[in-house]
Amino acid sequence: MRLKWESFAQLLSASVVVMSVGAVIGEECTAEGPRLLVSSSRNATGHWTVAIALQRQHAAPRPGNPDALQLEVQPTTTRCNGARTHALNVALQGQPLVGLGYEQVEGFGFYKVHRKAVIWESAREVCEKEGSHLVILNSEGEAAAITRLMKRHKVTDTNVFAGFHDKAEEGNHITVFGDDLENTGFTQWNPGQPDNRGNEEDCGAINSSTGKLNDVSCTKLASSYICEHIVI
Ligand SMILES: *[C@@H]1O[C@H](CO)[C@@H](O)[C@H](O)[C@H]1NC(C)=O
Ligand SMILES: *[C@@H]1O[C@H](CO)[C@@H](O)[C@H](O)[C@H]1NC(C)=O
Repeated sequence: MRLKWESFAQLLSASVVVMSVGAVIGEECTAEGPRLLVSSSRNATGHWTVAIALQRQHAAPRPGNPDALQLEVQPTTTRCNGARTHALNVALQGQPLVGLGYEQVEGFGFYKVHRKAVIWESAREVCEKEGSHLVILNSEGEAAAITRLMKRHKVTDTNVFAGFHDKAEEGNHITVFGDDLENTGFTQWNPGQPDNRGNEEDCGAINSSTGKLNDVSCTKLASSYICEHIVI
């Protein structure tokens, strides 16, 4: 969860100043999460070329993927106190998620509850195919909102898969992005958890009645899961 998108159009604009008079600037600019890397150069015939690349922290947009974004660039020149400023207005437009079964949880982002039980790795793959990721809770507020979401969807599984695991090193829980679980902002475990029961619980879940974390088997448990769409 980062910032609210308009569920309808999901449009965000960013202004990127690329050049000012008398100076040649290749600036690196940030627009509310995704990074727009702007570089400019002069080619052999003396024409300016400005290249813009969109870099997102977690997921690279792929063609045909619901996560893909369209970039619309509109250059403008402003004259002000004798100086000219060239700006690029960049609009990023993504496909609406709502038709894909995602719903907005106000203040947190877009989520999809999958009630068809599968094992953790399959759940992770389904989310990735949808251009999202297994849910990662970042606050008590989000945990509470997700608990309400599960209730609303009448999720009956006690454990609902989430986007963390300790497959690489027992007890060292990391998110599906490789970040320490400690840094997510929400690390409340269900009482007595994580217990690595049977020495085989390396995958992450949320207890659907408490909204708190649990470690579960990656291969012996098929469960519901929630995909979270990165809100850029
Ligand atoms: C430089 O860029 C301009 C504009 O895109 C293009 O017309 C021209 O052919 C380019 N020159 C070279 C040498 O690539
Ligand atoms: C989920 O939490 C409830 C309340 O703490 C607990 O009774 C239940 O055993 C938990 N389920 C699992 C699978 O840990």
